[in-house]
Amino acid sequence: MILIAATGNAGKIKEIKEILSDFEILSLKDIYFEEEIEENGKSFFENALIKAKAVYDFSRQNYPEAIVLADDSGLEVEALGGKPGIFSARYAGKDAPQEALIQKVLQEMKAIPEAKRQARFKCCMALLSADGEAFYSQGYCEGRIGFERRGENGFGYDPIFLVKEFDYQKTMAELSSEEKNRISHRRKALDAIKERLAGGAMV
Ligand code: IMP
Repeated sequence: MILIAATGNAGKIKEIKEILSDFEILSLKDIYFEEEIEENGKSFFENALIKAKAVYDFSRQNYPEAIVLADDSGLEVEALGGKPGIFSARYAGKDAPQEALIQKVLQEMKAIPEAKRQARFKCCMALLSADGEAFYSQGYCEGRIGFERRGENGFGYDPIFLVKEFDYQKTMAELSSEEKNRISHRRKALDAIKERLAGGAMV
């Protein structure tokens, strides 16, 4: 079974491949998908479905039997009313480097005390079967926003996210990929996807 991961984000692809290591996974690069998908949905799930559908339509000619998996995810910070949320990738403007996004969140959180720095990563996935049937899953990872960036692993906001499951002692970027993949929002969303695929319902 071929699974096409409908994301151009190298960090997400790496983690999806590590967690779904039993599957043959193609990236957008592998299928020569170069369109820019407009993510104009109002929720993570809407955006995941928009991405999955665009890639599903594109891939039918060459990969009619492939299933498509899209991941829309982001950071929700309680003290910022849930922001950056669905705007996580473009919080500091379209095409702004990740460091600018991190600095923007750190700046907005500057005066917020430790007890009020709760945040979570959220991952929503949409899976489309070869016949276009949709299945959805989601996963969360709880934590807190740190006062400075720490660690070099992972991607995105990982360096400023202190992980609850590690007693807020480590940022997500200080975890090894095995550690992150054991507790992450993406892992939790993918567990349900794995179960669905193992049941043979989507093929
Ligand atoms: P999307 O492509 O619209 O889903 O963008 C998601 C954005 O959320 C990414 O560009 C990252 O900034 C952030 N993000 C999603 N998942 C993670 C993660 O596992 N760690 C850190 N940041 C993440």
